[in-house]
Amino acid sequence: MTDISTEVTGLKVRSPAMLAAGVLGTTGTSLRRIAVSGAGAVVTKSLGVQPSEGHPGPNLVEVDCGFLNAMGLPNPSCAAFLDEMDAAREAGVPIIASVIGRNAEEFSGAARLMGGADALELNVSCPHAERGYGASICSDPDLLADIVRSVKGSVKIPVWVKLPPYVDKITELGIISEKNGADAVVAINTVPAMAIDINTGMPILGNITGGLSGPAIKPISLKCTYDLYKALKIPVISVGGIAGWEDAVEFIMAGAAAVQVGSALHNNIDIFREIETGIKAYLEEKGMTLEAMRGIAHRKT
Ligand code: FUM
Repeated sequence: MTDISTEVTGLKVRSPAMLAAGVLGTTGTSLRRIAVSGAGAVVTKSLGVQPSEGHPGPNLVEVDCGFLNAMGLPNPSCAAFLDEMDAAREAGVPIIASVIGRNAEEFSGAARLMGGADALELNVSCPHAERGYGASICSDPDLLADIVRSVKGSVKIPVWVKLPPYVDKITELGIISEKNGADAVVAINTVPAMAIDINTGMPILGNITGGLSGPAIKPISLKCTYDLYKALKIPVISVGGIAGWEDAVEFIMAGAAAVQVGSALHNNIDIFREIETGIKAYLEEKGMTLEAMRGIAHRKT
């Protein structure tokens, strides 16, 4: 059977399909469950130096084309999560710790606490975070540069930077990340969005606005992947609306080194195996390797 194991920033993964941050990444047991279900790697819920309760509910609403969430980065703190990391490690797949902060000092503090992970994913892209966190960081290129540089100087493990879906700016943000030492970029976080209850006339989410995930954002993420692959030398890891092996193949053709799955898990825990089996069968049918397929959509005809 075709081998689809690959290497992403030096981490060996038996499948390029990984768990996205924020979904089932809140405990060691849930991370292990996802790994056992076939994920090549798992990403934790975003963690900061200080614990946080997040936004008031409702925090999640299903819409026609996906999910809207405004969790508000609730987390128990890096230090409180270390026991969960021990439990997750038993699963035997790389664990990527998603970390948050408002500046280089906070990010580096979180990074050092999570330095036992296999890689870090810097969340500079949550669209509904408390002031100073998340996507607001990407509106200040110097701050982004400072954070990436400082985290790189604080840990020895690979550093991935998760970018917001700013189609007109994402390449610039990717270049800043790369120039300051990032080992990979992750594209994209959720797209700013909202829903209103027509019976009450009120926004549904407790935070009023949130981030859209699921099938609606797949074409946006695909374009971001395509543009980033073209502009950068470091790997691009794609996330956004991946719900089956065909989606994963599309992203790899756009240049993705790996893909992450989030929303599609709501009704399908088997999705990682399905992606793995589907990619293998596709490559066998085409007589192609995973590496040969990567970025094929960029070739000149
Ligand atoms: O609130 C959250 O935990 C969401 C994070 C994100 O969208 O990055």
